Amino acid sequence: MSIHIGAKVGEIADKILLPGDPLRATFIAENFLEDAVLFNEIRGMYGYTGIYKGERVSVMGTGMGMPSISIYARELIVDYGVKRLIRVGTAGSLNPDVHVRELVLAQAAATNSNIIRNDWPMYDFPQIASFNLLDKAYHIAQDLGMKTHVGTVLSTDLFYSKFFEQHLALGKMGVHAVEMEAAALYYLAAQHGVEALGIMTISDSLVNPDEDTTAQERQTTFTDMMKVGLETLIAE
Ligand code: HPA
Repeated sequence: MSIHIGAKVGEIADKILLPGDPLRATFIAENFLEDAVLFNEIRGMYGYTGIYKGERVSVMGTGMGMPSISIYARELIVDYGVKRLIRVGTAGSLNPDVHVRELVLAQAAATNSNIIRNDWPMYDFPQIASFNLLDKAYHIAQDLGMKTHVGTVLSTDLFYSKFFEQHLALGKMGVHAVEMEAAALYYLAAQHGVEALGIMTISDSLVNPDEDTTAQERQTTFTDMMKVGLETLIAE
């Protein structure tokens, strides 16, 4: 096992879906995978390996924020040989044209975190998605009839940030939404030469705070996003 994941090498597929919430990993395993086997429950960060449409895939929670996803993604890549990682999560809209329940494919992730700056103080090293996965996910989402935005997200360290106005100013420059994990995931993928993509549904809007969703609508959107994530995971 690695330091934070209690699986033996070989128990995790080389393709993994990464929701932030470990209970969503359980939901995905129970509702989408056949023969799902639990490989981790350390810290309640449930991870499963099973079969989706004949392909072996895994799903595991990452927790919230870049420090947490950095631990899990690094161990998955370095200790378990995972080659394709797709984050499926939620984000807050920063753009009046990006509405609650719509999908954002994070082509790039800006960040105010020091995680990347610490390594590259002289460079604005851009955090970008795998174009291969992005291209596949976009067409899969289109085929499912989902309203899909492709562009930049902001990955921030603080949910309760005092930089609300700056986030909105970035929204005016085309940043679609704010979330808390994509930049670190993309950086790890770049460091280790593997594929990563962030897929988010908009759960709330910082520009249209009146936009709301019912629990049922959130569940439907979530289920649709999982389909995009799983189909992209197994696409050739
Ligand atoms: N901020 C940061 N992360 C988020 C948000 C938000 O408003 N909504 C969903 N994830």
